[in-house]
Amino acid sequence: MPAGQAQDGYAVALKDYLRISALSRRDLTLLLDLSEELKRDPHRYSGLLRNEVVAMDFTKPSTRTRVSFTVAIARLGGTPEMLGPADLQLGRGETIEDTARVLSRYVKAFVIRTFADEEVGRFAAASTIPVINALTDGHHPCQALADLLTIREKLGRLDGVRVAFVGDGCNTVHSLMEAAALAGMQVTVATPPGYEPDADVVETARSIALQNRASVETTNDVRAAVTGADVVYTDVWLSMNVDASEKETRVKAFSPYRVTDELMGLTETGSIFMHCLPAHRGEEVTAQVIDGFRSVVWDQAANRLCTEQAILVALLTGRLEGAGHWA
Ligand code: CP
Ligand code: NVA
Repeated sequence: MPAGQAQDGYAVALKDYLRISALSRRDLTLLLDLSEELKRDPHRYSGLLRNEVVAMDFTKPSTRTRVSFTVAIARLGGTPEMLGPADLQLGRGETIEDTARVLSRYVKAFVIRTFADEEVGRFAAASTIPVINALTDGHHPCQALADLLTIREKLGRLDGVRVAFVGDGCNTVHSLMEAAALAGMQVTVATPPGYEPDADVVETARSIALQNRASVETTNDVRAAVTGADVVYTDVWLSMNVDASEKETRVKAFSPYRVTDELMGLTETGSIFMHCLPAHRGEEVTAQVIDGFRSVVWDQAANRLCTEQAILVALLTGRLEGAGHWA
C-alpha cells in the first residue's frame, strides 16, 4: 500500500517522520512493537524495497544513524544512495523544493541529517515520498524511538518510568521529552542555567504529557533530578551545531553535570545509564559509568537498526495515523 493512504481506511496516513510530537500514542506503540518484531525476524519485510532506492543526505557526520539506515534499507531489499553536501545541485543553488520534487520521482524515501529543522520541513512539504529526520539541530526522533525500545526491554515497562536527562538541552533531549511524554513517563531535565531545552519544545512535551499521565520538569538541580530515577541519560556538551569556540565556557558550566558513580548512587536500585553516543569519557560521563554495570549504551545503539527498519516499514505501508487523528 502506498504511503499517504491509511491501511485502516480512516484517514490519510502520516507521510513523514520528522518529530515525535507528530505521532499519536498508538503510533509510538505500533513502532515499538514493529521494532521488536523486526529485531526477532530482521528479514520479515525483505521484499518491501526490492529493486528500489532510498536516498540519504547527510550534511553532518554520523556513525550509527548512517550505517544502521544503510543496513535497515538493505534488509528491506533496497539500495541506499548516500549523498553528501557536495553531491547534489543543492550546493549550487537548486532549491530544496525542486530537489524534493525530482527525488520523489526516483526514490521511495528520503533520509536527511542536517542543521535547520525548517529545511527538513520544506523537503517534506515539497515531496510525495516519506521524509525521515535523521537528526537536526532541534530534534533526533530516530534516536528517541531506540531509546524507548531500550528502556522497555531493560525495565519491562515505560508507563511511570522516571527518566533524568542531565546535560545540554539539545536535540536528543527534545525528542526524548516528547517520546517520554507520549509513553506516560516522568522526565526531568537537569541543565546548567542558560542551557535549558527549548521552551516551545518543553511546552509541546507538557501538553502531550497532560494527555498521557506523564510529566515533564526542567531544573538546574542535578542531584534532585537523578534522585530516585530509573534512567539517567546524557549527551555531549558540544553538539554538532555548536561552535568549537564555546568549548571552554561549556566545560566550565557543565562540569557539575558530569554523570559519575556518585551521582548514579542517588538513583533507584536497578537503574540504567543511557547515552545516544558518540561519548566523551571524562566530559559528560566518566569511564566508570559508561563502561560500568548500569550502562546499556551498546544495546541502545544496537536498537537503532530495528527501530529504523520499523520507521521505514510503517511509513512505506501507511500505518501511522499521526497526532490529532482522533481529535
Ligand atoms: N546517536 C547518533 O545519532 O549517532 P551518530 O551521530 O553516529 O549517527
Ligand atoms: N546532540 C548531539 C547528538 C549526536 C548524535 C549532536 O547533535 O551532535
